[in-house]
Amino acid sequence: MSAAPAVPHHIAIVMDGNGRWATRRFLPRVAGHKQGVESLRRCVKACAARGVSVLTVFAFSSENWNRPVEEVSGLMDLMVVALGREVPKLIQDGVRLHFVGERSGLSEKIAAGLMQAEAATAHNSRLVLNVCFNYGGRWDIARAAAQLAARGEELTEANLDRAMALSHVPDPDLFIRTGGEQRLSNFLLWQSAYAELFFSDRLWPEFDEAALDEAIAVFQNRERRFGQTSAQVRAARPDQQAA
Ligand code: FPP
Repeated sequence: MSAAPAVPHHIAIVMDGNGRWATRRFLPRVAGHKQGVESLRRCVKACAARGVSVLTVFAFSSENWNRPVEEVSGLMDLMVVALGREVPKLIQDGVRLHFVGERSGLSEKIAAGLMQAEAATAHNSRLVLNVCFNYGGRWDIARAAAQLAARGEELTEANLDRAMALSHVPDPDLFIRTGGEQRLSNFLLWQSAYAELFFSDRLWPEFDEAALDEAIAVFQNRERRFGQTSAQVRAARPDQQAA
């Protein structure tokens, strides 16, 4: 009997399409981001229920500062509101929050909110939720390299890996982008070296449990070779070996 296909341990998501979701309804773009928070809430619950251990989402990129002022301030306000409303529910659901990104550019209010939310959920262990906020993949790599240089450490893969912002979790297995675009947009450039990519045409507010299940099913049908041949991978699988 063959073993059930494994659920991805770590899923990373570029939650794209909030703006279009709102525009199609003649609403301001920030209304789409609000709906995006609801979709994230649903996705967190669904991931926990399916046994996913780590979920990493792109909430605000280093480049998003270039958006219209009202959208940037809307996203910042939304973060404060979402933290106040969601953290108690995340605690109930056993979710541990980590914020990943450059904190120095954030207002004191936001920075304090992020720290408090991390402290309040620090004892939870059912699901780790990494929220990338003021984050960029190149920022992460450059910062890790600068840290090693400052400490006089060698620039090796292992040392860089330990200095990266997501060193507290294994690399993502499945990288999802919603909203119909097929690019990485500076998200988890280092960590996604062997992630399986899944692009969905659904806008993020419409990415529901069924869409998540489809992404997981596609992942389960991929053969992950990590540089090996297909024959090597099949020979190493426990369910393919003679008893
Ligand atoms: C991309 O959609 C989405 C974002 C830049 C923000 C994602 C944020 C959330 C889902 C809310 C959670 C985050 C906070 C801050 C609480 P887009 O705006 O680029 O959509 P478009 O491509 O349709 O314009």
